[in-house]
Amino acid sequence: MDQIVIRGGQRLKGRIPISGAKNAALTLLPCALLTDEPLTLRNLPRLADVDGFGHLLNQLGCSTTIEGSRPEDFGRVMTARTTTLTSTVAPYDIVRKMRASILVLGPLLARAGEATVSLPGGCAIGNRPIDLHLKALEALGAEIELASGYVKASAPGGRLSGGKFTFPVVSVGATENAVMAAVLANGSSILENAAREPEIVDLCNCLVAMGAQIDGIGTETLTIEGVDRLHGATYRVMADRIEAGSYACAAVITQGDVELVGAKASEMEATLAALREAGATVEETKAGIRVAMDGRAEPVTLSTAPYPGFATDMQAQFMAMATLGKGASLFTETIFENRYMHVPELARMGCDIDVRGRSAVVRGVDSLVGAPVMATDLRASMSLIIAGLAAEGTTEVNRVYHLDRGYERLEEKLQAVGADIERISAG
Ligand code: EPZ
Repeated sequence: MDQIVIRGGQRLKGRIPISGAKNAALTLLPCALLTDEPLTLRNLPRLADVDGFGHLLNQLGCSTTIEGSRPEDFGRVMTARTTTLTSTVAPYDIVRKMRASILVLGPLLARAGEATVSLPGGCAIGNRPIDLHLKALEALGAEIELASGYVKASAPGGRLSGGKFTFPVVSVGATENAVMAAVLANGSSILENAAREPEIVDLCNCLVAMGAQIDGIGTETLTIEGVDRLHGATYRVMADRIEAGSYACAAVITQGDVELVGAKASEMEATLAALREAGATVEETKAGIRVAMDGRAEPVTLSTAPYPGFATDMQAQFMAMATLGKGASLFTETIFENRYMHVPELARMGCDIDVRGRSAVVRGVDSLVGAPVMATDLRASMSLIIAGLAAEGTTEVNRVYHLDRGYERLEEKLQAVGADIERISAG
């Protein structure tokens, strides 16, 4: 398994190109199942999860072709075409490795009137049930049966009727599945308390480009008029606001000055507000967002929340940033029940973090010491990288396959702004 080795202490200076958003790509790809015409996605990030989703689409009968790109280019162009579905089954061995596979459930129901998708099971950050996905699809007319670890869903008469559903809890994935199911329903649908993340806006905009009729995009109430068919489209994946926020935290902890090229301030206001609370200079530029820092970060008090609140996907990265800050910072994780897996690893580097249930107090220390650490999940891995960039000595991050799921060519991007970082392939 590969390892990333960092010799800390370099201030990051320069421009970091931000890739297409993983969490947008993973809901745009299944849209290719909704039509027999080609869907072309531009600015697709080069990530393990995107490749994994492509393989799943292939298993369902969707052909995917990647346009050639120069090695130095970030992002790729993929054309996906499902002329006819050859399967409506998403098997356990795929779903257990990539939870986002559950996002084929809605599209398969919409296109074929049936779907058999393995229950995803839990993961490092929580048990992450899919009950809201299933309840929403039932509200749209689906019949759902659970049998031996699989969800068997069907649409009576082969087509969903549409309907009304109010989400009791905001759920990104359940909203995405419901939207993708509703666009081809034989009737209209209203989704209330829907998730409003920018990735959902990206999904809705892509579906509209394919001929879907969706009102209320970007709000918590989505009204969808089902249509008989969708056509192909070409759509550009939005920039990754979480990748951008992650590198912003790296800039702050190393007291650097970076420009996040392609990042959109309007999609990351809570993150930018938190950076300013930490004392960083944050300004929009023509190409993206500049983040600069002199001195140690001010203490922050952050509680995660659904968009437009402070993103749970940014919690671990801000916590790493706070470990070298002044005073005590307070974090509260309201979305997932076990999203502090990075804490024991950060403690190995000399961080002073006290976890009490859903909250964690981070007391700034004068220095961190590089150490061998273990990545446990995607964003926890990034927090170890961020701490390693500012630690004295060498940090070895193991199990970097977690990182490869969500950060395109991370070491190249960091090397280009002065980090002393390299990937050691363990064969
Ligand atoms: C998406 O996961 C993201 N993944 C996550 O990013 C992100 O952390 C999360 O949204 C919250 O923003 C992708 O987009 C691929 P949820 P998702 O449904 O859809 C509970 C990353 O690091 N819930 O919004 O799975 C759930 O347990 C990943 O890029 C139910 O109870 O998240 C959680 O507590 C990690 N029942 C809360 O809702 C359900 O049916 C929010 O989960 C569904 C969810």
